[in-house]
Amino acid sequence: MEHADTQIFEAILAGRAASVERTLDALLRPALQDGEIARPEGLLAAIRHGVLNGGKRLRPFLVLESAALFEADGEAAMRVAAALECIHCYSLIHDDLPAMDDDDLRRGQPTVHRAFDEATAILAGDSLLTYAFDIIADDATDLAADRKTALILRLARAAGMGGMAGGQALDLLAEREKPDETGIVTLQAMKTGALIRFACEAGAIVGGATPAQRETLAEFGSAIGLAFQLADDLLDATSDTQALGKGAGKDAAAGKATLVGLHGIDWTRRQLAGLVDQASDLLTPFGARADILREASRFVATRSF
Ligand code: IPE
Ligand code: IPE
Ligand code: MG
Ligand code: MG
Ligand code: MG
Repeated sequence: MEHADTQIFEAILAGRAASVERTLDALLRPALQDGEIARPEGLLAAIRHGVLNGGKRLRPFLVLESAALFEADGEAAMRVAAALECIHCYSLIHDDLPAMDDDDLRRGQPTVHRAFDEATAILAGDSLLTYAFDIIADDATDLAADRKTALILRLARAAGMGGMAGGQALDLLAEREKPDETGIVTLQAMKTGALIRFACEAGAIVGGATPAQRETLAEFGSAIGLAFQLADDLLDATSDTQALGKGAGKDAAAGKATLVGLHGIDWTRRQLAGLVDQASDLLTPFGARADILREASRFVATRSF
């Protein structure tokens, strides 16, 4: 992709991120919903700190663009996108805790346990995890019941012990017992790939895609999910804290099991280029309508932040 195209894509991504941020902001207000007793001020402040802080909002972007392929209802897609971002933000808040990666900086700001305290960070994460399912199930998400159930099931599987949370467990275990290449790919497919795969599949579910189309988008999501974590590991090794807004150079120091550590930087760059082509090919059935998703796959692999 030419430099100008990269800039255009990043501008589109930033525009979408602003809309997602507005939706999240509206969802994370003190006003109570039916059945809630109180939203404690300190907890809500910690949640807002962990969510409304300028993430790339890539997973929401993928939900919105996958849904757009099927001319889905944009508002429903936006709520599903926001729900997924709540789970992603929870995963980051917990990932940064002293018991996990022990990081002080996230998105250019102190991590939630630093700005508040550990117990509040744990509870902010818990709250966001449950809130994701609340957002999808709520009447305000105007979707047929069978689509909501499918979304809730796939999101639960992507986030749970067989997905993100399980992958985080394997990631921590790997600091002590080094996995082989297959083991690393599995843990990355779980800790990072599962939510990105869900993002792409979710758009198809919201838009009422056929099972085959749904599977195609899920596979696209898996390919770029793997690329996403490869790029994250590459950036940890090659970039700096200022550019990333989070501590760089920490993976090797912590003994993290990464493919960058195993095969080096050049191999990783070649692998990333291959994954972009593979992801792009998967979208062939959608023709030029899927070009924005092709650009997203290139961004995932070549990003500098
Ligand atoms: C970081 O995710 C954590 C990983 C899964 C590698 P992002 O790079 O999407 O973080 P934000 O949301 O933009 O801050
Ligand atoms: C985090 O992977 C994956 C999840 C949060 C599920 P990393 O630990 O590499 O993410 P960063 O580098 O802290 O963002
Ligand atoms: Mg981690
Ligand atoms: Mg981390
Ligand atoms: Mg990382």
